[in-house]
Amino acid sequence: EIEGKIEKLLKGMTLEEKIGQMCELTIGVVTDKNNNKLSEALLDTVIGKYKVGSLLNIPFGVSQKKEVFAEVITQIQKKSLEEIGIPCIYGLDQIHGASYTQDATYFPQGINMAATFNRELARRCAEITAYETRACCVPWTFAPVMDLGRDPRWPRMWESFGEDTYVNAQMAVQAVRGLQGDNPNKVDEYHISSCIKHFMGYGVPVSGKDRTPSSITDIDMREKYFAPFKAAIRAGALSLMVNSTNNSGVAFHANKELLTGWLKEDLNWDGMIVTDWNDINNLYFRDHIASSKKDAVRLAVNAGIDMAMIPSEGQFCIDLKELVEEGAVSMERIDDAVRRVLRLKFRLGLFENPYWDIRKYDKFGSREFAEVALQAARESEVLLKNEGELLPLRKGTKILLAGPNANAMRCLNGGWSYSWQGELADEFAQAYNTIYEALCNKFGTENIIYEPGVTYVADPNDSWWKENRQEIGKAVAAAGRADVIIACIGENTYCETPGNLNDLNLSSNQKELVRALAATGKPVILVLNEGRPRIIHEIEPLAKAVVHIMLPGNYGGDALADLIAGDANFSGKLPFTYPKFINSLATYDYKPCEQMGTMEGEYNYDAVMDIQWPFGHGLSYTSYEYSNFKVNRTTFNADDELIFEVDVKNVGERAGKETVLLYSSDLAASVSPDVIRLRYFEKVELQPGETKKVVMKLKGSDLAFVGQDRKWRLEQGRFRMKCGSEILYIDCEKDKIWDTPNID
Ligand code: IFM
Repeated sequence: EIEGKIEKLLKGMTLEEKIGQMCELTIGVVTDKNNNKLSEALLDTVIGKYKVGSLLNIPFGVSQKKEVFAEVITQIQKKSLEEIGIPCIYGLDQIHGASYTQDATYFPQGINMAATFNRELARRCAEITAYETRACCVPWTFAPVMDLGRDPRWPRMWESFGEDTYVNAQMAVQAVRGLQGDNPNKVDEYHISSCIKHFMGYGVPVSGKDRTPSSITDIDMREKYFAPFKAAIRAGALSLMVNSTNNSGVAFHANKELLTGWLKEDLNWDGMIVTDWNDINNLYFRDHIASSKKDAVRLAVNAGIDMAMIPSEGQFCIDLKELVEEGAVSMERIDDAVRRVLRLKFRLGLFENPYWDIRKYDKFGSREFAEVALQAARESEVLLKNEGELLPLRKGTKILLAGPNANAMRCLNGGWSYSWQGELADEFAQAYNTIYEALCNKFGTENIIYEPGVTYVADPNDSWWKENRQEIGKAVAAAGRADVIIACIGENTYCETPGNLNDLNLSSNQKELVRALAATGKPVILVLNEGRPRIIHEIEPLAKAVVHIMLPGNYGGDALADLIAGDANFSGKLPFTYPKFINSLATYDYKPCEQMGTMEGEYNYDAVMDIQWPFGHGLSYTSYEYSNFKVNRTTFNADDELIFEVDVKNVGERAGKETVLLYSSDLAASVSPDVIRLRYFEKVELQPGETKKVVMKLKGSDLAFVGQDRKWRLEQGRFRMKCGSEILYIDCEKDKIWDTPNID
């Protein structure tokens, strides 16, 4: 039905109108800078003259009431329908909640969601984000981020679901389903379109700096980086954004093999591909693979780009028209791109229902939604160390709270909060509790002594730092009145390139604070509040307990207070490897090498890499025992179902949730296999003394890898399967090589 409507519409469209549909501009281009209102004259140019079919970004730059947004978007919509007869599609970066407004529900960032290992929670958070985004008349978000976060130097690691392919795929699928609902062909008025991004390998820049090139092998590209995108597309993802940079010189925005070949042909995907910001022009200015801006348009559109985000405004339209007239871009390619844009608009119901009655979103900002955000924060904060069971703290404990993150909101939320990229927060987040406020609520204000000691200043020669060194002295003096010290350290908010670092070590002033506090002899608890693991190996031994809260959102302080007081139990696990040294940046699924131990031996990447904490690490106030690890068959082939089961018992005295992780190790393969790979996870809740049987189903083909010939292959031989401390072996009987790149 939709396809018929698209064809009918397409027939009546001029080339200019078609090109306008391929264009997305920022709201700033239609806003009058003098009065911060939509400008009729600018709308006339952008929508009237150039027929632009999409806009993005937060109107007026910062958090506004949803009614204000709805009004802006309704005006744009009216103009689009009058001028073009096709609704505009408006997009926003709602990375961890409907963060365009301060009244919405802000969830933990992606890295925290991965740490929950809780699929239902991931879906529910995305669903609420969709509801609250649609409540301001916006039907499209540029999320989820599913670039593998395999390099902590990368400043957007916190937007990702961590380093593992399977975790990324699983969480991204939940995010897509939560955002879009169950029927991607007919998204209802409480859901929105996802835009999976950034295709692909954006998270592993060689330099560690944002928007800089990667150097990923063909094997890894297919096996690790593509797999989550494939899973999200199979789950119905409606649109996709392209990685800004290039891989070993091959720019993603001009890569026909990937955009058209892998996505549109191999996966037979009928969704829409949008560029990242200004990235067609970047093929000329930055990548030097186009000889002019016009040539860049030719390369990108021919490669398979359907919509250009922030092209050179009118010039893009003029250039693309000329390219079509000159025969350098075919009309078929234009029609294909426009079909995809229109399909998205139809699927979102924008033609039938271009305006919303925003009053019906009566659960917006509700207590019910806040509870979900709080629960997600609780399940995402990870207990990394707890010597002598220092935690939980009993009520009545006198706490010295120090560190630059102890009494601020922006560091709890991270980027994409309250403003476009999220550099604001404290003044907008008055309604929520900082760690200090949450601890006061939990332990009583009289029991909390707050002395920050330092700010974030990284350079000991910095003038602020020189003048304020005595602040550490104040914190040290206050320790005399406390039973325990909580040092909230880490990073301030950043997003994209402002988050670039020259040193992954935690700033020296923060380390000095911890050293001084530890020297008082009072037990120190480190609370790490950071978007990527900052190196702390010098101060970690000085702490009795360490909690990694990452970027837990508006309820992160409350969640921490619940956990520290023992009113909730820890259940988060690290979705990445926490490095110990800058020269030991490793992921858990590395290739075997010398000194690593034998293949039959334990999984011990720390033998070579000397890491701080491994992927999957996370303690709780109880402990679990694994037993009876079994499989339905010990020999298998590609099409066989492998059903594993294991009994997990809560042997402690508190209720808790345990994430069961099932790993495989291929003991011999034609390409040196990763030492270990996560194949399944399941989170179960257990009362003290309770045992649950966890059933984990795989297909034989799930254990396949990509070979030297770039083909998927499952090879005969033995696999070691590991779950908790339990190990068993299974044998693949027959080789299988797939001719198709997509084997499921
Ligand atoms: O969606 C983002 C992207 O992740 C980074 N560049 C800007 C886009 C639109 O805001």
